[in-house]
Amino acid sequence: MIMQTTLTDSVEEAAAILNSGGVVAFPTETVYGLGAGICHPEALLRLFRAKGRPADNPLIVHLSSVGQVAEVASSLSLQAEQLIARFFPGPLTLVLKKNPSVPYTVTAGLESVGVRCPANPVAREFLRLACCPVAAPSANRSGLPSATSWEAVMEDLDGKIDCLLRGKPSAIGLESTIVDCSGKRPLLLRAGAITLEQLRAVVPEITTVAVTVQEKRPKCPGLKYPHYAPKATIRLCTAAGNIDGNLSPAAYIGLLEPPQSMKLLKVCRSLEEYGQELFSFFRLCDASGIEVIYCELPSDDGLGRAIRDRLMRAAGLC
Ligand code: TXA
Ligand code: MG
Repeated sequence: MIMQTTLTDSVEEAAAILNSGGVVAFPTETVYGLGAGICHPEALLRLFRAKGRPADNPLIVHLSSVGQVAEVASSLSLQAEQLIARFFPGPLTLVLKKNPSVPYTVTAGLESVGVRCPANPVAREFLRLACCPVAAPSANRSGLPSATSWEAVMEDLDGKIDCLLRGKPSAIGLESTIVDCSGKRPLLLRAGAITLEQLRAVVPEITTVAVTVQEKRPKCPGLKYPHYAPKATIRLCTAAGNIDGNLSPAAYIGLLEPPQSMKLLKVCRSLEEYGQELFSFFRLCDASGIEVIYCELPSDDGLGRAIRDRLMRAAGLC
């Protein structure tokens, strides 16, 4: 169904559309989110349809303040409390035991719920004006790279959603770190801008799981689906590796200069810039008819872990 998508800079207008049962995309510091109020069952179903998202993939619930956690989660471990105290609001999602008020449409039938309190001031104001907590996956069509600018949201979802609250490009550009605190031992489910090292400084016993696309019932249901994939083929490399940019229209993104000339080139000054630029570079490459994107694989620590994870998934390697 084609509908008119309202493009607005007004947080009040976007919140009014959400509160009347609309599906509204909004900026956060990680990536843009596609929101529906958890008190609007019809809107939740329309959100899944607009994104082309499988119903067995749960949504993260977004809150305007830490004080709201008790509205959606039923009990908190000491570790969860410590992580909230240190990292909320920010680019961290905690999986917690769900409160009965959260519908199973949101959690895809699970007894746990992903909870996040973004730090971006526009997101916080939007969530503050919302009449209930807001379930929001990344605002892209399922399988494609996440949207890190309002233009990228329009590219994927214009005519499929009620409203897009326009904001700045996402400061981080990678989705939130996810830690499952609903079981006995806290588990890192998705790497992000809050690094494993930072998490372990607060909760040393956090462990990691290798989640692969092949797994039938992974701890993080979304990770069994292919992700972040541009149309172009992704080739992972070290900068000195076997790059041949002249064979087909090729592009490169990484920290070091590649040895060959490329049709599109993004040399980043830091891992932060690499993370910020990655998904918008993928989209630019697709729009420019690039067939192969060479990506430098950073080392597996700090923010490098999150970038590596996205690159491996985009390349179909996990
Ligand atoms: O930064 C972000 O996290 C963005 C912004 C909009 O907040 N959101 C985002 O949502 O990346 P999404 O839906 O694209 O990715 C959320 C991931 C999915 O892989 C989903 O399976 C997992 O979180 N997830 C959500 N609830 C869960 C739960 N109760 N247990 C395990 N995994 C869960
Ligand atoms: Mg996503």
